[in-house]
Amino acid sequence: MRAIAIFPEEKSIKLIEHEAPHITSPTQVKLRMLEVGVCGTDKEICTFKFGAPPPDYNYLVMGHEAVGEVVEVGAGVQTLKPGDLVVPTVRRPCHDPSCRACAVARQDFCYTGAYTEYGIKAQHGYMTEFVVDDEQYMHLVPQELRGVAVLTEPLTIAEKALLQVWAMQQRLPWQMPDAPADQPGKGLKAVVLGAGPISLLGSMALIVAGFDTYVYSRSVPPHPKAELAEAIGATYISSQTTPVAAMVKQVGNIDLVYEGLGGSALPFEVMNYLGRNAIFAFTGVPAFTTSTQTTDRLMSRLVGMNQVVFGTVNAGNDAFAAAIRDLSVFTQRWPDVVQSLISKRVPMENAPDALLGKYGGIKTVVTISG
Ligand code: BGC
Repeated sequence: MRAIAIFPEEKSIKLIEHEAPHITSPTQVKLRMLEVGVCGTDKEICTFKFGAPPPDYNYLVMGHEAVGEVVEVGAGVQTLKPGDLVVPTVRRPCHDPSCRACAVARQDFCYTGAYTEYGIKAQHGYMTEFVVDDEQYMHLVPQELRGVAVLTEPLTIAEKALLQVWAMQQRLPWQMPDAPADQPGKGLKAVVLGAGPISLLGSMALIVAGFDTYVYSRSVPPHPKAELAEAIGATYISSQTTPVAAMVKQVGNIDLVYEGLGGSALPFEVMNYLGRNAIFAFTGVPAFTTSTQTTDRLMSRLVGMNQVVFGTVNAGNDAFAAAIRDLSVFTQRWPDVVQSLISKRVPMENAPDALLGKYGGIKTVVTISG
C-alpha cells in the first residue's frame, strides 16, 4: 500500500510502498485512513532534526493528526464496528514497569521518555492507506463530524491545557462566583498567543468556556487569521502594530495566557505583564535547533515534560493549620535542629540591633515577655 515516509539518513521524503497491516490480535481494529493533518511537528521532522523511524526501519511513515474509518474488527472488539469513524491517539505507553503514568494509560505524562508516538517517534504514522491498532487507542467520532474530525488531535492539545488550567486554578477563588456552570470562564480574560491552528482551536475552546478572549499574533489585519479570530468572537490584536505593553493596556488584567506560538521571545515578554493569580499555559515547542536561547530551552522542557512552575505568596487558614501540624512532626523528628533554627533570643532593648541584622545566625527572635 502507499505511504508517505521520510528517510532520515538520506534526508528524503517520498511516496513509498509500505507493507499492508493485518489484524493479529482479537482487540485490534483495521482502519482505512481518511485524512491526516500536517502540523509544525511534521514540518520539524521533515528537517530531519527530530523524529525517529521504528526499530529495524530506515524510514518513518509520517502523520499523527488522523481520522479513519473502521473496515475490520478483531473478534474481541467491543466498542467499534466497520463503518465507524475514529480518531486514533498519537502516543503509546513505554513498557517500563516503574512508569506509573503509562501503567494507568496516562502516557501523555510518561516518566521515562521511552514512549512511542505514531508518525513521530519509533512508530509508523497515519499517512498511509491502512493502519491496524488496538481498540483502546481509538476514539469514536460522530459521522456528522466527518469533515472536521481531522482537527480533533490538534484540538486535544488545547483541551489538555485547559483541563490542567482548571485543575491548577482550583487552588484559588479564580472563577467568578456568578459564572454559569457551562461557562466557567465567564468574566475572565484570556490572551492567546499566535493564530495558527493550535491557537485558533484553543481560542474557540476558551470562548466556548466563557472567557473574554484576545488573540495576539503577528499578522496585520486585514488578514484571514484576524478575520477567523473575530468571527469566533475573539478580539484580534497584531503584535506588529501593538507592542506588548499596549496590548496589555487594552486587555486589562490578564487571567490566562495560552501560548500556541512556538518561539519563546514573545511569550516571555508577555509573561512580564501577567496579572495577579494568573496562569500561563505553554503548548508550543520552540524549533528543535541548537538554539542557545535559555528561554527556548526552558520552554521546550516545560512543554515536552509537562512541567509546572508557579509563584505563591502569603498563606491561608489551611496553610496555618498545616504549619502547626508539621511543626509538631518536625520537633519530634528533629528536636535539636528545629530549636537551633532560632540562633539567638534577645530582649526588647536589643531589638533594633536584631532588626538591623547585627547578630547574624539563622534567626534572631526578640523576647517580649515570659
Ligand atoms: C503532537 C503530540 C506529540 C508532540 C510531541 C505534537 O505535534 O500533537 O501528540 O506528543 O507533537 O511529539
